[in-house]
Amino acid sequence: MNSLLPDTAPDFDQPIAVLKHCHGRIRKQLATLEKLIAHLPQHGADEQARQAATAVLRYFDKAAHLHHDDEEQDLIPMLYATAQGEDAATLRALAPTILQDHKDMDALWQDLHEQLTAVAEGTDSALSESQVRRFVASYTSHMEREEGTMAPMAMRLFSAEQMARLGQAMQLRRGIAVPTAPLSPALGQAVADLRKDYGQASLDEADVLDDPIDQFTAWFEQALKAEVNEPNAMSLSTVAADGRPSSRIVLVKQFDPRGFTWYTNYDSKKGSDLRDNSHAALLFFWSELERQVRIEGRVERAAPDESDRYFRSRPLKSRLSAIASQQSSPIASRAQLEENYDVVAQGAGEDPARPDNWGGYRLIPDRIEFWQGRRSRFHDRIVYERQEDGSWQRQRLQP
Ligand SMILES: Cc1cc2nc3c(=O)[nH]c(=O)nc-3n(C[C@H](O)[C@H](O)[C@H](O)COP(=O)(O)O)c2cc1C
Repeated sequence: MNSLLPDTAPDFDQPIAVLKHCHGRIRKQLATLEKLIAHLPQHGADEQARQAATAVLRYFDKAAHLHHDDEEQDLIPMLYATAQGEDAATLRALAPTILQDHKDMDALWQDLHEQLTAVAEGTDSALSESQVRRFVASYTSHMEREEGTMAPMAMRLFSAEQMARLGQAMQLRRGIAVPTAPLSPALGQAVADLRKDYGQASLDEADVLDDPIDQFTAWFEQALKAEVNEPNAMSLSTVAADGRPSSRIVLVKQFDPRGFTWYTNYDSKKGSDLRDNSHAALLFFWSELERQVRIEGRVERAAPDESDRYFRSRPLKSRLSAIASQQSSPIASRAQLEENYDVVAQGAGEDPARPDNWGGYRLIPDRIEFWQGRRSRFHDRIVYERQEDGSWQRQRLQP
């Protein structure tokens, strides 16, 4: 009854064909479900019915979700990033329906899941015909929408590179190792040959100030004067509870003897890392001045009134973005993100309150290293380390 034809899937280098192939498999499972409705009243949960129910369960419990994730996390966001004009308008109209379909089909599946489990285990043979019909109708119209509009749009708009990226994401989602292409020999050589000799300045023990915050202030002023690109952008590295580090750029908004302060979402990935491990590292790279500053220490939250003051100083739209975004959490699409923003903007007024999960973090340094690039990689490095009595001791490190 449910003999599934052996089906040969296309390669992931044709991701849209893979998605269509998935539709073929979904249609087979839907046909099996419809056959089960006729089969069960006559034969009960016999061996054939049990096998059919098991196959349908296996497919919709696992593979269907992977297929939805392909669309929600890769295909639709890539289309949003690429489609323009009429295509973009079509997508804006279609994508929310596709995402809602996924939710509706998941809900319908939950009802069927329980009944099919009982059939698969041979403990019951009841299967609601009306629920099966709704599930089948819902998937059928959904797949038609995708095949009629979204798949052709992707085929028309995606470059070979985008197709490869989509295919790779789909492979990774299924735990299939993606072979990585080696750099072309010419690019490999070009990367290896990238080499810049530094010679603008030197850094001598006698040049630096006693206090590293004063020294940082002096260098920061020079960075401003030299108009380096985003002088207050710094890399922030945190370490998760499992020991895995991660880095991202944030903007320092204040520095003084208490430490270095930036603002962010406390529920973000970095917020979660810092909750588990308050040690962190900051890094400034002022390329134009051939300078790097490395800062390490412990992080604590800024006082609420300090965060309130800074929050209020931001442009209204930035405040609304901070309220609307659950930073670091996945979201189905740009459209959904913008919808969330609109909802917040409508209700927030001119002076929205700072959300509890957004505010400042301050890194209290116990080690600060100043690095000045020198000729032939013979760089200058002066490091300050905080002593138990709070004073700073400094020394030169080898390059
Ligand atoms: C130049 C630049 C400045 C940024 N400034 C901030 C910032 O001040 N605060 C912030 O939360 N994210 C900032 N970001 C975004 C972060 O790099 C990062 O994407 C975000 O904080 C989420 O990180 P997480 O998921 O590791 O917590 C900035 C990114 C760039 C490239």
